[in-house]
Amino acid sequence: MTEILVLYYSRYGATAEMARHAARGVAMVPGMEARLRTVPAVSAVCEAVADSIPEAGPPYATPEDLEDCAGLLLGSPTRFGNMAAALKYLIDQTGPQWLAGALAGKPAGVFTSTSSLHGGQETTLVSMMLPLLHHGMLIVGLPYSEAALSHTTSGGTPYGPSHTAGVDSDRPLSADEQGLCTALGRRVAEIALALGEGAPAPRP
Ligand SMILES: Cc1cc2nc3c(=O)[nH]c(=O)nc-3n(C[C@H](O)[C@H](O)[C@H](O)COP(=O)(O)O)c2cc1C
Repeated sequence: MTEILVLYYSRYGATAEMARHAARGVAMVPGMEARLRTVPAVSAVCEAVADSIPEAGPPYATPEDLEDCAGLLLGSPTRFGNMAAALKYLIDQTGPQWLAGALAGKPAGVFTSTSSLHGGQETTLVSMMLPLLHHGMLIVGLPYSEAALSHTTSGGTPYGPSHTAGVDSDRPLSADEQGLCTALGRRVAEIALALGEGAPAPRP
């Protein structure tokens, strides 16, 4: 089986649920499977470390997970219109993969959850694309042939799936939001499959 890395950070659970729907989309493509990974919260105390195994949910990702997979689905709650530091912290450890071109040519899509409808979904999604472009990844969005993009009254953008959690961050994903997560997962997996093993061989 060829794997797509579904990598996310979630504090209240919404982005985690989006990740599960994206993984479902990956599994719809024959020969493809999702590798679900998360990241620990960043500590304000630099020397404090979390246990290497989380209390619940998928394992923590390492930069090697990015190397291993044929494609990437990256999810983050918004933090002031930007991706969460916990996810950025992992990405900032991928200098060796960047220099080796290890992710170049692999397809990647992004997703986010915000509390308010106009609270920065698109800016967060674009902020997540920037380091992936530096890595040479092929950014995959959502086409308007996905009907939910046109009639959603909450999340869902051509830049990637999004979710509007509400002021108390307790609003479940709507059917449109769920469907767009699954659609992106499927699309990234199909593109990875069409590209063969995903990336061209790293340059020597
Ligand atoms: C420090 C901080 C900053 C946030 N910034 C925004 C923001 O700019 N816009 C917004 O709509 N929601 C913002 N939120 C709300 C979260 O993005 C929102 O609750 C999201 O649904 C959480 O996803 P999760 O359930 O995966 O943790 C912020 C939350 C925190 C804790």
